[in-house]
Amino acid sequence: MEEEERIVNPELKSGELEYETGLRPTRFAEYVGQSKVVENLKIFITAARERAEPLDHVLFYGPPGLGKTTMANIMSGELEVNIKSTSGPALERPGDLAAILTNLKDKDIFFIDEIHRLNRVVEEVLYPAMEDFKFDIVIGKGPSARIIKLDLPRFTLIGATTRAGLITSPLRDRFGVVFRLDFYSDADIETIIKRSSRILKVEVDGEGACELARRSRGTPRVANRLLRRVRDYAQVKADGAVTGDIVRHALDMLDVDTEGLDTLDRKLLTTIIEKFNGGPVGIETLAAALQDDKETLEDVSEPFLLQKGSLDRTPRGRKATPLAYRHLGIELKNSENPPSPAKEQQKLW
Ligand SMILES: Nc1ncnc2c1ncn2[C@@H]1O[C@H](COP(=O)(O)OP(=O)(O)OP(=O)(O)O)[C@@H](O)[C@H]1O
Ligand SMILES: [Mg+2]
Repeated sequence: MEEEERIVNPELKSGELEYETGLRPTRFAEYVGQSKVVENLKIFITAARERAEPLDHVLFYGPPGLGKTTMANIMSGELEVNIKSTSGPALERPGDLAAILTNLKDKDIFFIDEIHRLNRVVEEVLYPAMEDFKFDIVIGKGPSARIIKLDLPRFTLIGATTRAGLITSPLRDRFGVVFRLDFYSDADIETIIKRSSRILKVEVDGEGACELARRSRGTPRVANRLLRRVRDYAQVKADGAVTGDIVRHALDMLDVDTEGLDTLDRKLLTTIIEKFNGGPVGIETLAAALQDDKETLEDVSEPFLLQKGSLDRTPRGRKATPLAYRHLGIELKNSENPPSPAKEQQKLW
């Protein structure tokens, strides 16, 4: 299955930005969940404002669609400063960085999305900019080359990444504040769905919101996307109101099951169980068996299945857990994979 077609893919799809922008919270008061991160940031922001200093550089990491970009924008609102946004791959040369940094005002936010994709040359000129608000530009070549030292405005760098492991340690060390965003609880997702339905003027009842939340993979972007699809279904097949039944019918048609797994997630687990005797199996072998690319499995299916507790990542490869057998209705025969009641009780299905 093509990645673009997966309704549960937490990454932003083309054509979705306008819709997302309309639903994006602009203040902490509207930002649901991630309460530890929010509480800490509120303190740091108040302290920086009282001292009339820029906020320390902040790094957000975590799976796509959990609100990193949203958080950066909220911080600019709360600090009452401008935000200038770019992404790692867009900064090709040091000059691209200099052009942005020299145009910032005192205490402004500079947001770099996908910061793990900065090239090495740009990353190295970013270090003194972050540390001392200085930027060295080399003019000319060979013996006549000169270095010009620019003084930059004091700014706050906010970096975001879905791949914390790919950030070099010198870069990571220059962030005063590092936060991980986690998957949201179903209750938080339900609140987000209710808020979005008010903005979109869709009627969603309590059961409808609850059913949608369960299938949204703990990810606001997926929740908002599913809401939009369910809204279409309610409009065409019923009177426009989103109820529990409407959600069940609409999402069954889209092959998103009661726990938010789609066809590829189920195929992945079934393949581990049936072809590889429950695992462990290496990700490359698994991708080949599924005729899918490794990145899609790693970015879309795995983080969710791991946190659901239906997949285990071991040094020898991926294993299906007893929860996966239960969810798929497959009898567990493999003695290497005994059910563990204690572990099962901790999980939600
Ligand atoms: N805490 C939240 N409360 C309400 N809505 C949220 C929250 N977090 C995210 N959203 C919604 O989810 C959408 C996706 O969030 P956002 O773009 O900030 O994610 P991201 O982590 O930057 O994703 P990516 O890794 O793809 O850049 C937003 O447009 C917003 O509507
Ligand atoms: Mg983002």
